[in-house]
Amino acid sequence: MSVQIDMSGRRAIVTGGGSGIGEAIVKRLAEAGAAVAVADLFGDRAERVASEVLQTGGQAVAVQVDVTSVPSVEQMHAKVEEELGGVDVLINNAGAWTLKWFTQMDPAEYNRDIDVCLYGTMHCTRVCLPGMIERKYGRIVNTISDAGKVGEPTMTVYSAAKAGVAGFTKALAKEVGRYSITVNGFSPGTTRTPGNADIRADWDEEKVVKLYPLRRLGETIDHANAVLFLASDLSGWITGQILSVSGGYTTV
Ligand SMILES: NC(=O)c1ccc[n+]([C@@H]2O[C@H](COP(=O)([O-])OP(=O)(O)OC[C@H]3O[C@@H](n4cnc5c(N)ncnc54)[C@H](O)[C@@H]3O)[C@@H](O)[C@H]2O)c1
Repeated sequence: MSVQIDMSGRRAIVTGGGSGIGEAIVKRLAEAGAAVAVADLFGDRAERVASEVLQTGGQAVAVQVDVTSVPSVEQMHAKVEEELGGVDVLINNAGAWTLKWFTQMDPAEYNRDIDVCLYGTMHCTRVCLPGMIERKYGRIVNTISDAGKVGEPTMTVYSAAKAGVAGFTKALAKEVGRYSITVNGFSPGTTRTPGNADIRADWDEEKVVKLYPLRRLGETIDHANAVLFLASDLSGWITGQILSVSGGYTTV
């Protein structure tokens, strides 16, 4: 007998779903039977991913959203409620990072990483929680980063923003557990995505992979598999946890 993860009947939003890790999560959830709203700042990216899901027989809708804007997030939520009928699963995955030594940063540059990663997560969670509380069911999964766990030089503000998301995850889990809503995070190590292609182009990859006990960089599917578990009923007694998906880079 084989065990399968069945997400049929579940409605999910994946922010940053138009590229990289988010795109892989969208496709994995859809393959497991969920109806997925692909939410991205770039509407064309969201449309492409949603149409690829539809072509393979899955259920998806595209939504343009800027997670840093409360009105835009409220519009996204209203559209998903209208098209899918509710939200059972929220994957807060949209992210942004500035690569710079902290001593060279202007305070005005702090905002983007914190707005997208931390406030974006809060804004999207705020609109989805009332429906989850009413239905007494929810799965919230936040994309964190090993940078937020151990800190990365040249990514100080991003590290702080992601550590903030980890704190939010743990505290919220304790608030909403009574409604059978779980709130967890996963923490990627360096993963090949369009978002970091320019950074990886400057690396000596052979050296970088030696930092990883499993001796390779992450692939987007590594995260999609972990998120599928955290978004499913199989993880029903796990909440407030941050799962590193990083080839052993961090073990805390
Ligand atoms: N790739 C890695 O090595 C890595 C490592 C650790 C953590 N992460 C995290 O994983 C997540 C996904 O990263 P990725 O590498 O797949 O990046 P990516 O750039 O390939 O995809 C991110 C998507 O988020 C969207 N986005 C950005 N700002 C947004 C906003 N304001 N509103 C809505 N959507 C927005 C982008 O348009 C893009 O499509 C991020 O949270 C990132 O911090 C990535």
